This record gives sequence, structure tokens and C-alpha cells, in this order.
Amino acid sequence: MKADVCIIGGGPSGLLLSQLLQLQGIDTIVLEKYSREHVLGRIRAGVLEHGFAELMREAKCGERMDREGENHKGFYIAHDNALDSGGMDHVDLFKYSGGSTVLVYGQTELTRDLYEARDRLGGKVVHNAEDVTPRDLDTDKPYVSYRDGDKVIRVDCQYVIGADGFHGVSRRSIPKDVLREYERVYPFGWLGVLSRTKPVSPELIYCKHERGFALCSLRSQVLSRYYIQVPLEDTTEDWSDDAFWAELKRRVPQAIADGLITGSSIEKSIAPLRSFVAEPMRYGRLFLAGDAAHIVPPTGARGLNSAASDIYYLYHALIDRYKKADDTGLDAYSARALARVWKAQRFSWWMTTLLHRFPNNIPYDDKLQQTELAYLLSSEAAMRSLAENYVGLPF
Ligand code: FAD
Ligand code: DHB
Repeated sequence: MKADVCIIGGGPSGLLLSQLLQLQGIDTIVLEKYSREHVLGRIRAGVLEHGFAELMREAKCGERMDREGENHKGFYIAHDNALDSGGMDHVDLFKYSGGSTVLVYGQTELTRDLYEARDRLGGKVVHNAEDVTPRDLDTDKPYVSYRDGDKVIRVDCQYVIGADGFHGVSRRSIPKDVLREYERVYPFGWLGVLSRTKPVSPELIYCKHERGFALCSLRSQVLSRYYIQVPLEDTTEDWSDDAFWAELKRRVPQAIADGLITGSSIEKSIAPLRSFVAEPMRYGRLFLAGDAAHIVPPTGARGLNSAASDIYYLYHALIDRYKKADDTGLDAYSARALARVWKAQRFSWWMTTLLHRFPNNIPYDDKLQQTELAYLLSSEAAMRSLAENYVGLPF
């Protein structure tokens, strides 16, 4: 088989890039390890920044997102010292970002839209591709092999895009002496529950509580998504639905607990929190994008949004290569992408540190954490910084 660009990974990053490139007449093939149902079964991101939504529109995939997604102009931070304001303070994203908002639209729906768009254009997406292996990346004739049952199939291409997430094969194909990895592992995870219930609040509520962080989020007016911070050792078997709802109620303001509509979970999972960056994001003809190169703790809703800037830079760089024989964008890709990636890392680390309970904190750390929050909520400059980062820095 042959393609201009072989994309490893059929998650949102890989599908979006393949759709954008095909609309420009650049031939792609996507190799995905799992079935479409499996990929669509993952419940992950819920909050999209403007730049991601723009790319979806450019990819001609924005129609349902614009119809069903909810524009959010702000969110709440609940904390112990907000007793005068019903236990929570409002963050006015619209005001402090100078008129920007975020879009609440689930990653599952967005991925479904991308698959349907690929189908409409007759895009090549291979599912259940086993043993995907990128080869000869440091030559100008790279290829990718994969197994379909007992047949080994070879895809000859000009460029390989590693969009296969944190556990994928692409990053591991870069020699160890070339790759530098930076990592922080947090001593807790997020237990998430999806339930077919009316959300407790029209806007998200991030809760800082002495028992641990909690988040009230949503996918639509009939689908709620809630998270609580849990120790790393916990498993979903440790948390019945009743235990989850009881713990969530302890961590949110009383009025929110009183208004919470509970129901049986339709999905329950635990995500460990980690910050990670691999540098460089290019090796020969291989370009890493999205979670394959960097991940953030989910607190600032930056993960998928960081993937969006990678895709934006790669898309434009590949257009320049194919339409103008200009490699400047490809050569600058790693440095450009990493500059924005590190800003998303900083913001996610900051918001995680601000709102979670750290089991090994000394009392001094706890005081600083309380002071950081007090400063944020009393300073227009700090609010502007939060809003600017949350709605998404420019690409
Ligand atoms: P992935 O979604 O991981 O896709 C990679 C694909 O590659 C997968 O389909 C995988 O099956 C496939 N693959 C893996 N290995 C191979 C292989 N060897 N061969 C072929 N294919 C392979 N981000 C936000 O921006 N906003 C949010 O609100 C937000 N909330 C989140 C909440 C939670 C609980 C979690 C866990 C994450 C959240 N994120 C959020 C992060 C976001 O979900 C990820 O950043 C996003 O999924 C990255 O997309 P990707 O396509 O780069 O990687
Ligand atoms: C969701 C996840 C996040 O990480 C976040 O900051 C906000 C919302 C969600 O899954 O709904």
C-alpha cells in the first residue's frame, strides 16, 4: 500500500489531521490498533477551546458540534472560604479573556463526527491493525508495517505521523539517545462517572476540598460527568455508585449537594494524573502529535486542546511541503509545537496544584495553596491570566 502520509492512531489527533490533509488533496492512511466501537467507548475530554473548534470547522466536521455543543462563558471554583457566596466563586471567562468562551462537547461525539467525515470522503482508516511498526524513519523512504491476521502489510509513505497516544509505538521508535522525557507523576487519580442525569449546574464547578478535589461537569443537559480525586491504589471496584455519590456530595457546597440528581453510572473509570513531555517531537520523517508526545493532568482541560495546536502546525507545514516544496514548517515543527505545549503543561500543573489535596504536603504548602487561591480570587490580573490560559493561548 502507498500513501503520502501514514498516520498511526485513530484518536481525535490522527483523524483530524487526516481529514484536514485529505481536503487539501494530500493522501493519508490511518492505522488504528482497536475497533471503532472501542475508540468511541472512551469517555475523555469534555471542554474544547475555540482553536480546536475552528479546526473542526475547517475539517468540515463542525456542524453537529456547533448545533449541540454548549458555549460556556465561565465556571465556578468552590472552596472552604467562600461561605459568603454560597460556597463558590465565579470565574468570568468571557469578561477576563476579552470575549472568549469554551465549548462543552464530548470527545466521543467529536471522534464520531470525525469518523463519519472520513467515511464520507472515502478516507482510509484501518482498524484492528496489529503490531504497527514505523521503519526507516531516518531515511527519505520510511514505511510502516502492520499485521492483519497472519498477513504482514507494508505502507510506503513520505511522512509518518505518530498520533497513537501515550501508550503508542511511535514515541518508542525514536532512539533513546535522541529522545528526552520530562515527567511528573501525581500521587492520585480521578475517578470519573458518566450518568444520564440532569447536570447539577449549567456551568462547571471545580471544587477544592479538604477530602480532595471534585469536579461537576457535563456533556449535555441530560448527561452529567462528575469526577473525584482518589488515591492511586483505588480501583473502580472499590467505588460503588452509592459510595461515589456520597463522597461527591461531601466535597461540593451544601446547596449543590442538595440539588444533585444521582443515577446509575453508565461509565466509570479511573485516570491517574501525570504531566509528561517528550522532546524533540520529530525524528527524521516521524512527527509526534497529541498525547503521543505530551500529556497533562486533566484539571485545566488542556490535553486535547494541546493536541489541536500540534495538528494545526503539522497541517500547515505539510501543505507548505506539498504545495510549495517548502520544508520550513516541518523543520520548525518540534520547536513551535513544544513552545505551546510547555505553556499548557505549566497551566495544567498550576491548576492541579491549586485545587487538589496533596497527601505529602507540609502545613506551609497548604498555607501557600490557600493563599494562591485567595490571591487569584481577589486579583483581576490573576483572573485574566487564568481566563487567557483556560480559553486557550493562540496557536
Ligand atoms: P488518543 O485519544 O489516546 O488516541 C490515540 C489512538 O491511537 C487511540 O485510538 C489508540 O487506540 C491508538 N493507538 C495506540 N497505540 C497504537 C498502536 N500501537 N498502533 C495503532 N494505534 C494505536 N482534554 C481536553 O482538552 N479537555 C478536557 O476536558 C479533557 N478531559 C479529560 C478527562 C479525562 C478523564 C482524561 C483521561 C483526559 C482528558 N483530556 C481532556 C485529554 C484528552 O482526552 C487527550 O488529550 C486526547 O485523547 C488526546 O488525543 P490523541 O488523539 O492525541 O490520543
Ligand atoms: C472535563 C474534564 C476536565 O479535565 C476538565 O477540566 C473539565 C471537564 C470533562 O470531562 O467534562
